[in-house]
Amino acid sequence: MTPIQKCIVEKKSNLNPIWLMRQAGRYLPEFREIRSKNQDFIKLCLSENLASEITLQPIERFNFDAAIIFSDILMLPYGLNQKVEFEKNFGPKLGNLNLDDLKNIDEVDFSFKLNSVYKAINITSNKINRDEKDLIGFVGAPWTILVYMINKISPKKKLKEDFFKDEFLINRLLSIIDKFLKIHIKNQVEAGATIIQIFDSWAGLLENNIPEYIYIPTLSLVEYTKSLGVPVICFPRGIKDYKNFCDIVKPSAVNIDYDIDPKDIVKNIDIPIQGGLDPKILLQDEDTLEKETKKYLNIFKDHPYIFNLGHGIQPQTKIEMVEKLVKTVRSFN
Ligand code: CP3
Repeated sequence: MTPIQKCIVEKKSNLNPIWLMRQAGRYLPEFREIRSKNQDFIKLCLSENLASEITLQPIERFNFDAAIIFSDILMLPYGLNQKVEFEKNFGPKLGNLNLDDLKNIDEVDFSFKLNSVYKAINITSNKINRDEKDLIGFVGAPWTILVYMINKISPKKKLKEDFFKDEFLINRLLSIIDKFLKIHIKNQVEAGATIIQIFDSWAGLLENNIPEYIYIPTLSLVEYTKSLGVPVICFPRGIKDYKNFCDIVKPSAVNIDYDIDPKDIVKNIDIPIQGGLDPKILLQDEDTLEKETKKYLNIFKDHPYIFNLGHGIQPQTKIEMVEKLVKTVRSFN
């Protein structure tokens, strides 16, 4: 069993496995080199050999305990025939939504469109030592996918007032999203993903109706993933009440964000915990990094804990700082 599986399944503490959210990406010079020759980001995600190579880059460099497949949460709307583009220094831009088009998509069309993602997982799965390392597949949570499909760009701090105006559209979309996220999860697991992480990057935007848009739709995916025999890690970024989230949604593990006090969490939540360290700490000096890293390791020393960040690693992060982080975690006892 891998260290992460021991931590999640057997609830062992003191193992401190480590991987980093967004580890396969922009801060790595070897990624930037591939990216500079591949302007179309979606096409790059769908080039199975390159996607697998990028997935393994951070493993080769830092020997992390898990690889996370190089893909994107927005492959879901792409698979549903909504246009998805990534503009430099801006982020994602989605095309118009047409419910009639969405209704015509079936499981076969969808899986065919995303087939290269599954092939990339399969190629990667055959290249890693599966007794030692996990291969993480992932999806966006229904709420975050809904936000992107309706808002079409990353929201700022608040949703537009008319976001919820078309109740019929929202309800139809949520049911389509649930169906195809499950297909996407199943395909990733069948291709070799050993853990699924659900990214709810915009959970913090919601103040009301959290059961309706977060708990219930996420619970549906968590139960489905568990039924496939695979652990599921949730990251409800910015949600106020992590304890309530865990009590209701019952993920196999939960990733906390950097606004959360880890001391409160360790007292109140008994499922395995992942993450927490503010990715901006990696932009400071080595001593601060060591101190902050040890703070998390000490707080979680008697709790099943997977070391990770409280959000994705920043693009400006220096390689030496990641090396320092890994060394601090690996030598802690
Ligand atoms: O973790 C990994 O390294 C695996 C790959 C991965 C990507 N996106 C690749 C990517 C993962 C797990 C994601 C998740 C993702 N994508 C999230 C959830 C996590 C989070 O950060 O909150 C979200 C909200 C997205 C949507 C998305 N994709 C945005 C907002 C952007 C632009 C800004 C950004 O974060 O880079 C992307 C593009 C994207 N996805 C890049 C990468 C490596 C950058 C592409 C580039 O080189 O321009």
